[in-house]
Amino acid sequence: MTDRFGYKLEGKVAIVTGGGALDDGIGNGRAAALLMEMAGASVVVVDRDIERAESTVAMMDSGRGIALAGDITEADTCRKIVEDTLKRFGRLDILDNNVGVGSRGNVVDEDPERWQRVMQINVSTMFLMSKYAIPAIKDSGGGSIVNVSSISAIRPRGLTAYSASKGAVISLSKAMAVDHATDGIRVNCVLPGPVFTPLVYGRGMSDTAREIRRQSSLLQIEGTGWDVGNAVLYLVSDMARYVTGQSLVVDGGVTLKGPDRDTQ
Ligand SMILES: NC(=O)c1ccc[n+]([C@@H]2O[C@H](COP(=O)([O-])OP(=O)(O)OC[C@H]3O[C@@H](n4cnc5c(N)ncnc54)[C@H](O)[C@@H]3O)[C@@H](O)[C@H]2O)c1
Repeated sequence: MTDRFGYKLEGKVAIVTGGGALDDGIGNGRAAALLMEMAGASVVVVDRDIERAESTVAMMDSGRGIALAGDITEADTCRKIVEDTLKRFGRLDILDNNVGVGSRGNVVDEDPERWQRVMQINVSTMFLMSKYAIPAIKDSGGGSIVNVSSISAIRPRGLTAYSASKGAVISLSKAMAVDHATDGIRVNCVLPGPVFTPLVYGRGMSDTAREIRRQSSLLQIEGTGWDVGNAVLYLVSDMARYVTGQSLVVDGGVTLKGPDRDTQ
């Protein structure tokens, strides 16, 4: 049932890839998993680091979360994650394709093997998880997929393999939206800006770098995993039932930032 005044996911089953996070930090996947669980969904938290996935499940009060370990660059792992979800919960409604890794440098500097690895983790994992999840979502009467891209796709800044991979995620989302609309499946994309997640501070970001990131927003505020999680929650809910094939930028206006008015 569509609830006009909230995000109601009772009876729904969701998979979140990369739903773990370092320690008790709030990554984009962990935030989405917790928000969907709070909205009533049962949530399968997948991470190649099982302790991270288990930490996310431990933050859930309802007992509706389970943690699964797996490196989702492997096709068999993705197929098994969907099978295990169906065995445990009997249906699948939602997939949050959240796994992603960064890169550094331009095409001249980039190592060819590293390029392949970035494409594999950032794009192929979304293809593989969707390949096995879509038939299950269709059998459950339709549902929703969100693929996590980045503003690096539309405003590149020296992370060229990453930018190219996240651009592919936008195209993949649009193509999937077209291909599977008649299966009752909506597919959208979220483009986070520089949000402060364990991925970022786990690399030892300095206070100065953190402040530069904050100031890059028109709003002059720092984005968090919750901002991305809330966007995912909206897109997977019935509140977005007329929204498919879209890219939702969640960046505090970073991509609109340019020279100040009086300097133009
Ligand atoms: N943090 C940012 O500023 C930012 C900005 C734009 C986009 N994003 C995107 O948001 C998504 C999540 O980012 P985050 O900052 O929350 O990351 P994170 O590193 O905190 O969480 C991602 C999780 O994915 C897991 N993971 C990585 N590779 C995996 C694999 N092959 N199989 C299974 N699990 C795997 C990691 O163990 C980790 O726990 C990524 O796609 C990232 O590119 C992040």
